[in-house]
Amino acid sequence: MATQKVEIFDTTLRDGEQVPGCKLNTEQKLILARKLDELGVDVIEAGFAISSPGDFKSIEAISKIVNNATVCGLSRAVKNDIKVAAEALTYAKKPRIHTGIGTSDSHIKHKFKSNREEVLQRAYDAVKYAKSFVEDVEFYAEDAGRTDNDYLAKVCEAAIKAGATVLNIPDTTGYCLPQEYGAKIKYLKEHVKDIDKAIISCHCHNDLGLATANSIEAIRNGARQIECTINGIGERAGNAALEEVVMILKQHPYLNFETNINSQHLFALSQLVSKHMGISPQPNKAIVGANAFAHSSGIHQDGVIKRRDTYEIMDPKDVGVTESAIVLTARSGRAALAYKAKNAGYNLTKLQLDEVYANFLNFADQHKQVNDDDIHQIVETSNIYREIKSA
Ligand code: KIV
Ligand code: ZN
Repeated sequence: MATQKVEIFDTTLRDGEQVPGCKLNTEQKLILARKLDELGVDVIEAGFAISSPGDFKSIEAISKIVNNATVCGLSRAVKNDIKVAAEALTYAKKPRIHTGIGTSDSHIKHKFKSNREEVLQRAYDAVKYAKSFVEDVEFYAEDAGRTDNDYLAKVCEAAIKAGATVLNIPDTTGYCLPQEYGAKIKYLKEHVKDIDKAIISCHCHNDLGLATANSIEAIRNGARQIECTINGIGERAGNAALEEVVMILKQHPYLNFETNINSQHLFALSQLVSKHMGISPQPNKAIVGANAFAHSSGIHQDGVIKRRDTYEIMDPKDVGVTESAIVLTARSGRAALAYKAKNAGYNLTKLQLDEVYANFLNFADQHKQVNDDDIHQIVETSNIYREIKSA
């Protein structure tokens, strides 16, 4: 089977920037947009133009500098929102308007105080109006994760009839289980008339920690675009993490999907986003966390020192991390200590190592971690140091 392309739609600058305290100014958004373009994302969602003059300005500025990616602006299914989004995208080489409306009964009843028929009409009208400005229009059915599949199919059909090029099926509240979300995408593929005129996009939130799994299940069931953010940042518990979905598809080539992402830029971009947004991923964050390639237990360290792939399923260099780290703690073994001591300039014999290791354990039991300076101290305060020194 031929490999199929999965489009990566990055929404770090829109959904990601919704994280409280992470607001970016235009200059910061421009720096990140340039890097996202270099990373190889297919679409950059640059902001929500109607939301503030600053966001309008950022979308306009990003539109001018992005060379390869499509630049996308969010809007509600409201005429003035759509018009303002179109204005902000005037200079984009490849502009896309992303418009939509809530389709779950909860949104229809409580948010819009409306009914299914009216919402379906608003969806159609919004796409039709957006098409009067740009060719590329993405429609989102907000809270699609909790929307009845039969009604969702009707809304998608209306959006396609109005000219939508992409259908976004967001699991806005992060509620779906992977098989349920996958089945929803499959249902749409099988029941929406003219579905092949648009590509299906997944936009998964992480409220139950399933955003990445749900995105992969969507792709396996017919979606061809993933909406995601660097470091998985976004509203509440965040969005699917770009680095995770990209590396899953890369590390599982038999799935037959490829992206345009240059994965070697992932770590640097993760750091840049952290710097500008002022929040770092947790240390155990997959791919980009400080411990993602760090080994601390003796059993693991012994394996990794002998051969990296005993405990690593990807090469850190593939995501831009220079090398795996051996971290010394009280759980570390002789192999790791000998390895770190050698890097610090001490070639220990087996007998020497026995003594240094005993001293190391005494020290490590009283400290969370043993750093390079500590190794010097541990070796040089050992009885055998004179012997090592004179050797
Ligand atoms: O989560 C969501 O439903 C969204 C839409 C606005 C696309 O972010
Ligand atoms: Zn979202």
